[in-house]
Amino acid sequence: MTAWQPDSWRDRPAAQQPQWPDTVSLTKIRSTLAGLPPLVFAGEACNLLNDLGEVCAGQAFVLQAGDCAESFDKVTADSIRNKLKVILQMAVVLTFSAGVPTVKIGRIAGQFAKPRSSSTEVVNGVELPSFRGHMVNDANFSKDARNADAERLVRAYHQSAYTLNLLRAFTKGGYADLRQVQMWNQEFIAASPEGQRYQSVAEGIESALRFMAACGIALNAPELHQVDFYTSHEALVLDYEQALTRQDSITNEWYDCSAHMLWVGERTRQLNGAHVEFLRGIKNPVGCKLGPSATSQEVLGLCEILNPDRVPGRLTLISRMGADKIAKTLPPLLTAVRDNNHPVVWECDPMHGNTYSTAKGRKTRHFEDVMSEIDQYFAIHDQAGTWPGGIHVEITGEDVTECVGGAEAISDDDLERRYETMCDPRLNGTQSLELAFRIAERLSI
Ligand code: PEP
Ligand code: CO
Repeated sequence: MTAWQPDSWRDRPAAQQPQWPDTVSLTKIRSTLAGLPPLVFAGEACNLLNDLGEVCAGQAFVLQAGDCAESFDKVTADSIRNKLKVILQMAVVLTFSAGVPTVKIGRIAGQFAKPRSSSTEVVNGVELPSFRGHMVNDANFSKDARNADAERLVRAYHQSAYTLNLLRAFTKGGYADLRQVQMWNQEFIAASPEGQRYQSVAEGIESALRFMAACGIALNAPELHQVDFYTSHEALVLDYEQALTRQDSITNEWYDCSAHMLWVGERTRQLNGAHVEFLRGIKNPVGCKLGPSATSQEVLGLCEILNPDRVPGRLTLISRMGADKIAKTLPPLLTAVRDNNHPVVWECDPMHGNTYSTAKGRKTRHFEDVMSEIDQYFAIHDQAGTWPGGIHVEITGEDVTECVGGAEAISDDDLERRYETMCDPRLNGTQSLELAFRIAERLSI
């Protein structure tokens, strides 16, 4: 294998890259980005690697969750806090009910680029380039909006920076203190049966803390007052990722400092492709999506390239098969990886294989399909004797109506009420909590 460099991906075919109209400004922007400070630090990525090592050993569970695509427009302190609240609630449910530590990773502070099945979109006979995420262009259907604009790379950096700043403040500055568990229950969630169930979990935690204090146990361990919350996104636009890739002054290793964890998508995971080449050389923990067409051969190839030293926690394989396919497609991959002794973290993305359009043309997912894929995922891992390491889900903290079903029984008609996603349909706050309870039940069996 040839030597890796932050730009060695340029010799490989790079799928899903934007067609920037102006290469002069792209070159300028790449050097602007390269001169900006890192967003995350090597030491933090190492901590995540260690935490994922625990998942790999079956000692912890990973919850990776957030938007399909973050927006430049709808970012407020409230929206960031609401997303964090739901992820913290889900993690508390998993940890408290199942007794397993939960590693928390957001699809946040950088999830701005989308791969597309078709490079153009036709509406009423007009053909324009597809929307590729706010890092590239805008979702409005007009020629101007759909032009790829490299200035957006710098905006993505800045928005990531202030999102991360808030996340750090919330998770380290007292807001994520376990004594605050009640406060994470937003009003619209608290009114639902899931919210009430959460309320009793929160009361259980509070009385446990009171009991420990009464017994004279010092409650000053940082774990009770702060949370490690990591960021991640799909490493899609390689000009951006390369510009944020820096050499650690202590170890001399390269880290992509745009996020703690980066993954490669189902459409860009070719063994000889640019994305896999790029991920190979960075020391961050990395992930790879696996759809129903993935073969054992390909998956073993990915393991060899992305984790040749077989470091536990380095590689997360994220299956996204679909509820109707997972029973056939996942077991051979599990056994191949297991029999070749590759230490991987397995995650189930129960969203991307279960998307369909309603009669009115709304892209949606049914809560029961999502649950069904997760249930089968657990059963398949039980059978293979492997650890179902975690889940990877598209959620939001808001009371949106994008996925149908769940305890609130959101119907096709309800989708017209609050359908706000810029890309794929997300579970709303209540559905996300319901999912966490159902998984916790499964985990504690
Ligand atoms: C995603 O995670 O938003 C995505 C596009 O997934 P996949 O690569 O699995 O299709
Ligand atoms: Co998506």
